Amino acid sequence: MARVFSGIQPSGVPTLGNYLGAIRNWVALQAAHECVFCVVDLHAITVWQDPAALRQATREMAASVIACGIDPARHILFHQSAVPAHAQLAWIFNCVARLGWLNRMTQFKDKSGSDREAASAGLYVYPNLMAADILAYHATLVPVGDDQRQHIELANDIAQKFNHDYAADFFPQIQAAIPAISARVMSLRDGTKKMSKSDPSDQSRISLTDDADTIVQKIRKAKTDPAPLPATLAELEHRPEARNLVGIFAALTDTPAQSVLDRFAGQGFGQFKPVLAECVAEALAPIRAETRRLMADIPALDALLRQGAARAAAIATPILAEAEALVGLLPR
Ligand code: AMP
Ligand code: TRP
Repeated sequence: MARVFSGIQPSGVPTLGNYLGAIRNWVALQAAHECVFCVVDLHAITVWQDPAALRQATREMAASVIACGIDPARHILFHQSAVPAHAQLAWIFNCVARLGWLNRMTQFKDKSGSDREAASAGLYVYPNLMAADILAYHATLVPVGDDQRQHIELANDIAQKFNHDYAADFFPQIQAAIPAISARVMSLRDGTKKMSKSDPSDQSRISLTDDADTIVQKIRKAKTDPAPLPATLAELEHRPEARNLVGIFAALTDTPAQSVLDRFAGQGFGQFKPVLAECVAEALAPIRAETRRLMADIPALDALLRQGAARAAAIATPILAEAEALVGLLPR
């Protein structure tokens, strides 16, 4: 049975992109796998976070993930900094990964922007920590959105080089589980940018905590073009905003995008948007309610996370110890 690992940064409130691209698939994998899900606070601080906001976002992310359907009793949910093995293995991987590999990472280029000299060193080695997250559990199946594909490939390169350098068949190869539809939900303001919880514009995203009125208003204002919806997917090719909205509806209703077009072809966005908004609002209402319920009892939520961390450490600590021994570090 493949062990599943995935992570999400507490750098804001989770979005519809996180839900459709990742969390929904985490939920589905629970039935047939042993799963480890992690709120990756150490990844979040690779860019500055307000400390009080980070504490709040870490708890809120854990609550949202449970509200989406993750079962913290049957599977493992915890925050990354509570299990030191992640940072410890990441240091070893800092010494395995090559600068040339990190230099190719498109997420670093995007996130560091025009002033690369001012980016933190942590942002640069971010993919090494992500590799450690996964490999500290010998996890082999990683459900993520399309933007993480390159990081998973790098994790495989690290695993392979470690195995080669230390002449051991120790770390397994990892497989990314990327959804067929909605692997890349785009911004409501710009169909060429991904929807992100850290985008400065709140209008660019739907947050899992948005109420129905906010969702209706954001979708009404979402950027589109004046043409009606076409009959074929090929005609959506150069209409990124239209394609995005059709994709969201397809994902939420579990139907192929072509079926959405079959139903709405010839209609304008004035007709499509209200139907889409209702569908999104209906899907998110129970998640929002459950998140609020969980956030009303912080001690209980913290206790859940602590239990998750203890169970996570029970798996990761012995794997770290073996990796350290292979490298030649003396036992503690
Ligand atoms: P992050 O928000 O960067 O912590 O991402 C957490 C998970 O959500 C990762 O698996 C991402 O690939 C996925 N994800 C984030 N944004 C999107 C998006 N706009 N569309 C699809 N998946 C996404
Ligand atoms: N880098 C991922 C993202 O931003 C989050 C992440 C951290 C992750 N560690 C991970 C995802 C391990 C999968 C597995 O989306």
